[in-house]
Amino acid sequence: MPGFLILNGPNLNLLGTRQPEVYGCTTLADIEAMCRDHGARTGVRVEFAQSNHEGALVDAIHDTRGRLDGLILNAGAYTHTSIALMDAISSAEIPTVELHLSNVHAREAFRHQSYIAKVAVGVICGFGARGYTLAMDALQSHLEARS
Ligand code: DQA
Repeated sequence: MPGFLILNGPNLNLLGTRQPEVYGCTTLADIEAMCRDHGARTGVRVEFAQSNHEGALVDAIHDTRGRLDGLILNAGAYTHTSIALMDAISSAEIPTVELHLSNVHAREAFRHQSYIAKVAVGVICGFGARGYTLAMDALQSHLEARS
């Protein structure tokens, strides 16, 4: 059974109350439950984590190396700034889907830049909380096509 880490960056612990007009009313705990249910249905082992700290996110990415099969990363604002997260993904050699709840391309220009996209298999954004299970399916079919 493939194992995925679903990793969430800064401020995503506040989902449900944080700018619900942008990010929706679903909490991160709801999303984790959705992902675990979806994994049980589709045959994926799910690890789920969140941190507001860039270094802790780097450590979590390193920890996937040789241990897990895929990474789904909503790096929050670090998406747009963090060469360290980009390098961590390259170092861990883990197939990665970049994820955002909102359509970052329809928002401020500074959100159009992504360091994660440069090393990701693909990007899912704009589908709200449903994007997490879409990302799981996308990553699973990417891995199946590759093997
Ligand atoms: C986000 C988009 C980012 O630009 C923002 O900084 C976030 C959330 C999203 O899921 O839509 O924190 O990653």
